[in-house]
Amino acid sequence: MKPYPVERVPTIMISRAAAVVPLVFGLCFHGAASAGEARAAEGDFASGLQRLLSQPYLPPDFDQEVFDELWTTWEEPLRSRAAAAPVEERRLMAMERYGMLPRPNDPARPMQYVVGPDGRWAMNCLACHQGQVGGRMIPGLPNSNYALETLTEEVRLVKVRQRKAFGHMDMGSLLLPLGTTNGTTNAVMFGVALMRHRDADLNIVTRPPRFDLVHHDMDAPPWWHYSKRKTLYADGFAPKSHRMLMQFLLVKENGPEKFQEWEDGFRDIEAWIESLKAPRWPHAIDAAVAREGEQVFRRNCAECHGTYGPDGSYPDRVIPIDEVGTDRVRLDSLTAQERADLNGSWFGHHGRDAEGARDRESPAGYVAPPLDGIWASAPYFHNGSVPTLWHVLHPAARPVIWKRTPAGYDEQHVGLEIEAAEEMPPGRLIAAERRRWFDTRQPGKSASGHDFPDALTDAEKKAVLEYLKQL
Ligand code: HEC
Ligand code: HEC
Repeated sequence: MKPYPVERVPTIMISRAAAVVPLVFGLCFHGAASAGEARAAEGDFASGLQRLLSQPYLPPDFDQEVFDELWTTWEEPLRSRAAAAPVEERRLMAMERYGMLPRPNDPARPMQYVVGPDGRWAMNCLACHQGQVGGRMIPGLPNSNYALETLTEEVRLVKVRQRKAFGHMDMGSLLLPLGTTNGTTNAVMFGVALMRHRDADLNIVTRPPRFDLVHHDMDAPPWWHYSKRKTLYADGFAPKSHRMLMQFLLVKENGPEKFQEWEDGFRDIEAWIESLKAPRWPHAIDAAVAREGEQVFRRNCAECHGTYGPDGSYPDRVIPIDEVGTDRVRLDSLTAQERADLNGSWFGHHGRDAEGARDRESPAGYVAPPLDGIWASAPYFHNGSVPTLWHVLHPAARPVIWKRTPAGYDEQHVGLEIEAAEEMPPGRLIAAERRRWFDTRQPGKSASGHDFPDALTDAEKKAVLEYLKQL
């Protein structure tokens, strides 16, 4: 088995970032910076990426000894293949199984975990926010292969055998699901569950556990949209700030003093995220068809998704749920109180960040996201229910159940290469295999809605698809 043929991403990203730093500062000095550029200037974005790759912000989930034994829990024939493989190859097999990507300059370690000198592995933001498309890593591309629940289950089995203590992830996953389909996670509910045990200054308060969480899996959005967005998340309820990005660190091991200590580092991390640019379509484009597609897009899509190119503008609109019609579980899963508590806490500068914003506590629906680099960030919609752009444009033809190939890219349909089915495969599937399938009939996973493309003829859809490739 070969590792993914990845580019040497870390060096490319750092040198590009370093080249842009003087430009951003130059703009600020001349008073011409947009809000985004001024914010980016607050942090040092080359060091933002370094922090994500080297600083453990969370307690470790397991150690090297556990990682190296994970293969012993696998199903056949994979287990026998791993048993016969040299240790380096076995590690790459393990990374592939759990959706981790080997670091280009250090392939024994993944981008998604910080491995300390003591061999302990701590998850970082890139676990969900760094993936690959067609075997290529692009900075800020969501990880559509991450198999967090399978990893955690198998880690627990090995820990029992090695008589090791369970960590926060092992325990947490006994109380709440981590993700029922690979590539999507219950991340929003992790945040809600953890925030219930904090006051507005992030002091830990002990409250009885509650069992009213609406679990559902989400597909993380690409980070290269961050600079365009005016608010965060699918329903746009959270103000943008480096503090808001720190929610993911709310485990009980991190008290309020840690958040203050790490705040400056998160200015750098935010600056790095803000600096990311959408990747270009790497294949040919039929320019004449794309030009036609642009006209169709302007008439049918731009009022919500904005316009592109040098004079492009992005409206950042929230579309009422009944109008967009996509799965509503994510919208209903947060209460007005929960949104207000988050915005009113240290994360939202005690409400100051959201001042003057309307509807932050009770959004009407979902944000129409920017579509820059949209070819790369399949699957689509906030829940990751639609595998290709062709399927976004053909609502009636969306697959009921589908499974992606590990790294295949479907150039024709523009998105994930998949196998579609009407029913789950017969017989009892082991959990690791079941999680490779996306079943749109399950709660929170509907692929219906966003029927706007139905107004287009087939020729118009074809033209728009060609246009979308070049955004
Ligand atoms: C377990 C997976 C997971 C991890 C780990 C994670 N995120 Fe996310 N992130 C998500 C999901 C899912 C969303 C979408 C949430 C929503 O829209 O409701 C998201 C949304 C975001 C957004 C909003 C983007 C937008 O356009 O609205 C930013 C920025 C972000 N995450 C940054 C981070 C940072 C920084 C870290 C590390 C401190 C992190 N995330 C860790 C899953 C994760
Ligand atoms: C009335 C507003 C509206 C119109 C018109 C509209 N969209 Fe959307 N679009 C949305 C919203 C809202 C979402 C987010 C839905 C979700 O995630 O549940 C979305 C999502 C998408 C996505 C998936 C984005 C992602 O990152 O997952 C694509 C692609 C898309 N739209 C393309 C189009 C195209 C092409 C057209 C024109 C034919 C169009 N849209 C017309 C509101 C609109």
